Amino acid sequence: MTGPGPQAPTGAPNPADDQKKESTRVTVLITGTRLYGEGDPVDVLIDGEVIAEIAPAGTLGRDEPGREVIEAAGTVLLPGLVDIHTHLREPGREDTETIDSGSAAAARGGYTAVFAMANTDPVADNAVVTDHVWHRGQEVGLVDVHPVGAVTKGLKGAELAEMGVMASSAGRVKVFSDDGHCVDDPLIMKRAMEYAKGLGVLIAQHAEEPRLTVGAVAHDGPNAARLGLAGWPRVAEESIVVRDALLARDIGTRVHICHASTAGTVELLRWAKSQGIDVTAEVTPHHLMLDDSRLETYDGVFRVNPPLREASDAVALRQALAEGIVDCVATDHAPHADQEKSCEFALARPGMLGLETAVSVIAETMVSSGLLDWRGVAKVMSERPAEIVGLADQGRPLEVGEPANLAVIDPDATWTVAGPELASVSDNTPFEGLELPGRVRATLLRGRPTSVDGEVRHR
Ligand code: NCD
Ligand code: ZN
Repeated sequence: MTGPGPQAPTGAPNPADDQKKESTRVTVLITGTRLYGEGDPVDVLIDGEVIAEIAPAGTLGRDEPGREVIEAAGTVLLPGLVDIHTHLREPGREDTETIDSGSAAAARGGYTAVFAMANTDPVADNAVVTDHVWHRGQEVGLVDVHPVGAVTKGLKGAELAEMGVMASSAGRVKVFSDDGHCVDDPLIMKRAMEYAKGLGVLIAQHAEEPRLTVGAVAHDGPNAARLGLAGWPRVAEESIVVRDALLARDIGTRVHICHASTAGTVELLRWAKSQGIDVTAEVTPHHLMLDDSRLETYDGVFRVNPPLREASDAVALRQALAEGIVDCVATDHAPHADQEKSCEFALARPGMLGLETAVSVIAETMVSSGLLDWRGVAKVMSERPAEIVGLADQGRPLEVGEPANLAVIDPDATWTVAGPELASVSDNTPFEGLELPGRVRATLLRGRPTSVDGEVRHR
């Protein structure tokens, strides 16, 4: 212990102490925002980790000692966003992203929880790695970083990883995925789903039949043919989607489909859901916004798995997200170094940044187009993802007493995306130079502002 030793009790409590306590109590007041972008503007007071009061705009005291005021007239208040598919590259590729830099990107993007995929080096196929990711995320303190555990050892698809150990250790792994690779062996997938059922955890499948994608770098369509790029057919994804839905049906469990990318996948999901099969799916912002006409320039920044498809697929995916056939948005934030992107297209590493641009891309593709209102955005970017992975404290209603995991968004502000200005170590955004609507003004994690006007607030 440091500082002065214990003092002799003085009897009556010292009023000066009380006052000091009062004056250092930190509260946050968000003024003039609209809950889900609906109704009249309100002031929202956050005390400690929870929403303490919601009152008509201009009625809550701004000048209390220790009170931080976030001027939020014209903004939309949403529950903090939840990304169930992100790559933070730590351990192993800290030259492209770290848990620290990725957390900063998440906070700036409005996120309060992210799920870090297992394709790190070493692979997160054991509790030493998954616990490290969890503890490091908590230490950074900008966003809850939930580790995803690998389904199979080394992501090799042959032998199941120790899912039970990861599920019950400190990181409490709730989602398992070999993402980057497909669990293609049907017997291994069946066993993994049976174990997952017993453990009450989720398997998230990167749906790609590898025998159909050998050497593939682009969507198998007219564009790839014209550009001379090896094609990745839709059936490579769809055949696994339907197989895994049928496995879920027969086992009586659930399965989640990562980054749905084709109109056919949408139809299969529609069918599976109509049969009562417990299959959920995510779509990335880039698959909603971009198509394979971007490949014209052979710029490696547009290489991604699954590949950018045709415009008609993007249209089907937007519609499916609006209808709830595709359940949620997930970024598949995938940082890569310059030298891994600025090379021949076929040699470029697949993957794109996503955390800081997601809300804006959704504002552009889903809100501006009238497919979703902001309440709908709360559903697909916070509530549904939290539900799918089983997070009790995220995606909660904006009500008094609820945990203050919040995103304050200015729907009218526009900004121009510039890779070097993003918090990520890497710059590989496919939206470079694009003007997008919707700026995240502030993000709060359990009542603490983690990002305000682009400035990241480390603890
Ligand atoms: C991801 C990556 O870089 O780790 N790449 C990608 O193109 N999406 C892996 C993945 O999500 O499949
Ligand atoms: Zn993937």
